[in-house]
Amino acid sequence: DWTNASVIDEQIELIQQRAGSKKVICALSGGVDSSVAAALVHKAIGDQLTCVFVDHGLLRENEREQVENDYVNSIGVRLVTIDAREQFLSELAGVTDPETKRKIIGREFIRTFEKAAADLVLEAKGEGEEIGFLVQGTLYPDVVESGGGSGTANIKSHHNVGGLPDDITFELIEPLRALFKDEVRAIGRELGVPDAIVSRQPFPGPGLGIRIIGEVTEDRLSILRRADAIAREELTKAGLDSEIWQCPVVLLADVRSVGVQGDGRTYGHPVVLRPVSSEDAMTADWTRVPYDVLSVISNRITNEVDDINRVVLDVTSKPPGTIEWE
Ligand code: XMP
Repeated sequence: DWTNASVIDEQIELIQQRAGSKKVICALSGGVDSSVAAALVHKAIGDQLTCVFVDHGLLRENEREQVENDYVNSIGVRLVTIDAREQFLSELAGVTDPETKRKIIGREFIRTFEKAAADLVLEAKGEGEEIGFLVQGTLYPDVVESGGGSGTANIKSHHNVGGLPDDITFELIEPLRALFKDEVRAIGRELGVPDAIVSRQPFPGPGLGIRIIGEVTEDRLSILRRADAIAREELTKAGLDSEIWQCPVVLLADVRSVGVQGDGRTYGHPVVLRPVSSEDAMTADWTRVPYDVLSVISNRITNEVDDINRVVLDVTSKPPGTIEWE
C-alpha cells in the first residue's frame, strides 16, 4: 500500500535525522504500539536501537516467547529481557486492593525499566557511545488526550549503579504520533511484525495481576494463564476474534464451590468469562458467544485446569459493569 509505504519512508528519514549516531532504547510491552514503533525505528537505525522487555510474570501464555522469538526473528531487533517475576510477586504478596495492585505494578515496572536503561547507558558509555533517545508508541488519540505535550523523559539513576549523572534525560522519539490504531496495525503488517502481535486484542498493562480477584500468587497465575489460553484458543478457532473486543478470564481466587469430578467431590475455584463487544472500551456489551463454543470452553477448562471446577459467564454490559473485574 503506497500510503503506508510513504508514511514509513517519511518516518525513517525523520528518525535517522534526529538520532544521528546516538543510540536509542525502547520499552517493549508485547502490545501493538510499542512493537510497531520499535520495528519502525529499527528499520531506520538498525542496531543503534536496543529494546527492553520486562517480564513481570503477569503475562499470558506464550507472550514472552512471542516477543523473544517471533518478534525478534521477524524484525531482527536487539532485545534485552529482564526477568523480574520474583520481584513483582514479592511486592504483590498480600495485596488484594485493585488500585494498590496497579500502583505497585506500575511503580515496579518503571523501577525495573529505569535500572535496565541506566545499565545500558553505562554499557554504551564504556564503548564511547551515548544513548540519547527513548522510543514511545504514543498514538494520535493519546496525544489529544494528554493535551499535545511532548518532549523528554527523565530516568533517575540508581544507587546501585555507579558513575552516572543524577538524572539522565532522553529525548522522545514517537513515530506513531500522527496515527490511529488501524493505521498502526497496517504499518506493522507492512514492516513484518508478527500477526499475533499486530492483531492482538487489548490487554491491560497490569496483566493477569488484575484478573485474579484476591492475592496474586504464582500458583494462581499459572491456573489463570492456562484457563485464559484455552478460552482464547477456542474463541479464535470459532472465528470470533473480530466480533469480540476482548475476553478477560477472571479467577475468583477466594471463592470455592463444591463440584464432582470422576468419583470425587471437589472444592475448587470458579473462573468468569467476560467476552465483550465494543468500539472504544468506553462502553461495551457482552458478546453473545454461541452456546456450543461456551460449552467447549467450559468442558476444556474444567477438565484441563486443576482447581477450576466451575465456569461462569458475565452478562453485564458497560455501564454498569467495567470490562475488567478490578
Ligand atoms: P475497564 O475495566 O475500565 O477497561 O472497562 C477499559 C479498557 O482498559 C483496559 N484496562 C487497562 N489497561 N492498565 C491498562 O493498560 C490498566 O490498569 C487497565 N485497566 C483496564 C481494559 O482491558 C479495557 O480494554
